[in-house]
Amino acid sequence: MTDLAEKLYRNKILSKPEFVELINSDAETRERLRALAEKLRKENYGDEIYVRGLIEFTNYCKQNCLYCGIRRDNKNCSRYRLSFDEIMRCCKEGYNLGFRTFVLQGGEDPYFTDERICEIIKAIKEKYPDCALTLSIGEKSKESYKRYFDCGADRYLLRHETADKTHYEKLHPENQKFETRIKCLENLKKIGYQVGCGFMVGSPYQTAENLAEDLIYIKKLNPQMVGLGPFIHHAQTEFRDFPNGTLELTLLMISIVRIMLPKVLLPATTALATINPLGRELGIKAGANVVMPNLSPVAVRKDYQLYDNKVCTGDESAQCKSCLEKRIESVGCKIVIDRGDSKNN
Ligand code: 5AD
Ligand code: FES
Repeated sequence: MTDLAEKLYRNKILSKPEFVELINSDAETRERLRALAEKLRKENYGDEIYVRGLIEFTNYCKQNCLYCGIRRDNKNCSRYRLSFDEIMRCCKEGYNLGFRTFVLQGGEDPYFTDERICEIIKAIKEKYPDCALTLSIGEKSKESYKRYFDCGADRYLLRHETADKTHYEKLHPENQKFETRIKCLENLKKIGYQVGCGFMVGSPYQTAENLAEDLIYIKKLNPQMVGLGPFIHHAQTEFRDFPNGTLELTLLMISIVRIMLPKVLLPATTALATINPLGRELGIKAGANVVMPNLSPVAVRKDYQLYDNKVCTGDESAQCKSCLEKRIESVGCKIVIDRGDSKNN
C-alpha cells in the first residue's frame, strides 16, 4: 500500500476510494506518509515554525453546534467578553513576546456588531502595521466579510467541519446549513482573504468516506491554511459519550494534507496537545508548521472550553511561549518572529 503514498506524493490528489484505502492503511504506509510530509514541510518552510497569538475575546455564541462546549444551550458555561482595552493589552503583550500575527477568535456574539469589529481591526492594524490580523468569528454575510477586509483584516479561519452534507446535519441543528458554511468560505476567498478551512478528526458519525470527501474538498478549495484537530467530547454537550478522535488518525490526516498541498499552513492544534502530552511535537513531525498559543487573559481562559480538559489554560502567555519553544526545539525546529504568510499562492 505504500504505492498509494507514492501516488499521492506524485499526483497531489487521489480518488475517493483511494483516499479511503489510505485512511485505513497499515503502520508502514502511515510512517511513509509521515516521512514524506516532514520532508515537504522542510523543503517549503525549513526548520521555521510560525506562531499566532490567539485572543479568545468572547465566548458568547448564538450558534448551537452539537459538539461545542460554548454552544448557546450550554447554560453551565460562564460567559465573558473582553473589552476593547483588554484586547489591545493582549496584542501588546503578544507583540512584546514576538508574535506578528494575532487571531481574534470568538463565538458568534451579536454584541460585537460590524462597527465594533471594525473598530478593533483598525486599532490593531494601526498600532501594529507589521502584523497580520486573522479573524475567526464564524458565519457572516459577504458584506460584513468585505467590511472587515477593507478595515485591514488579512486572514479568516472558518472550518468547514465536514464536506458531507448529511454528516454536517448530524453535527448541527436544523437552522445551521451546510450550504451557508460552504458559501461563506467561497465568499471569503473571493474577497481576497487568506483562508483557513478544516475539520475535526473522529467527530461523531464520521466515516472514512467522509474524511476522503474532506480531503477532496480541501484540494479543490486550495486554502492557505488547514486546521485539523481531534474531536474531544465535552461533558455538557449531547456528544459527551462519543469517543475522542485519535492521535494516530489526526497525524495521518495532517500528513496527507501536507503532501496534497505542500505549501499550506498546518497548525499543530491545542486539541492535539490535549489528547496527548506530545501532541504538538508529533504534529510537527507529521508535517505541521504552525502553533497557536493563547494570549487571552488567564482569568478567562478556562471559560473558553470548546472541549474537556483543554491544555495551557492556566499558564501565562510568556510561560506558554517558552514551553512551546522548548517543545519545538526538541523536534529540531525553531519559532520565528514573522507574520508567517502562507506560501500556498
Ligand atoms: N472538540 C474538538 N474541536 C472542537 N471544535 C469545537 N468543538 C470541539 C470539540 N468538542 C473546533 C471546531 C471549531 C473550532 C473553533 O474548534 O472545529 O471550528
Ligand atoms: Fe502552553 Fe506548554 S504550550 S504551557
